[in-house]
Amino acid sequence: MSEPLFTAAEQKRFDDEIAVLLSHYPNDRKSASMLPALRVLQTIKGWLPPEGMKLVAERLETTVAHCYEVATFYVMFHTEKPGKYVIDVCTNLSCALRGAEGMLKYMEQKLNTHAGTRGEKYFLRETECLASCGTAPCLQINEDHHENLTKQKLDALLEKLS
Ligand code: FES
Repeated sequence: MSEPLFTAAEQKRFDDEIAVLLSHYPNDRKSASMLPALRVLQTIKGWLPPEGMKLVAERLETTVAHCYEVATFYVMFHTEKPGKYVIDVCTNLSCALRGAEGMLKYMEQKLNTHAGTRGEKYFLRETECLASCGTAPCLQINEDHHENLTKQKLDALLEKLS
């Protein structure tokens, strides 16, 4: 028998948060709450497991296919289990001009991975502009933003990832 998707506490949190969310939308437009509903699931589970997608589809009275259509449009949503740490390194123009590509290579070496490769611990990837061009280069680790990076700052950040 497969493990249940949620613990009792997670199930309650999911039910409560989805109920609050749906209270803000008309009954015949539940699927309009798709983005925040997916966010609820991902915040609880760390990604969007298939059983969770089914549950979101049921609650929003839509299809699982529609959930995937939305989720796969945004890189912030994970329809496959990511590593413990998702590290998004901006390599757009401002960051590139301030050494982002060298920084990415340095991280690949330090973490023994390649950008775009999903590992159990790290999922390092290049990303588009993180809207922090004035403080380039920058990255996000599990959505925590870090800017004005140097090798020393990177070393200190990576050291904290256990
Ligand atoms: S180019 Fe990197 S934050 Fe804008």
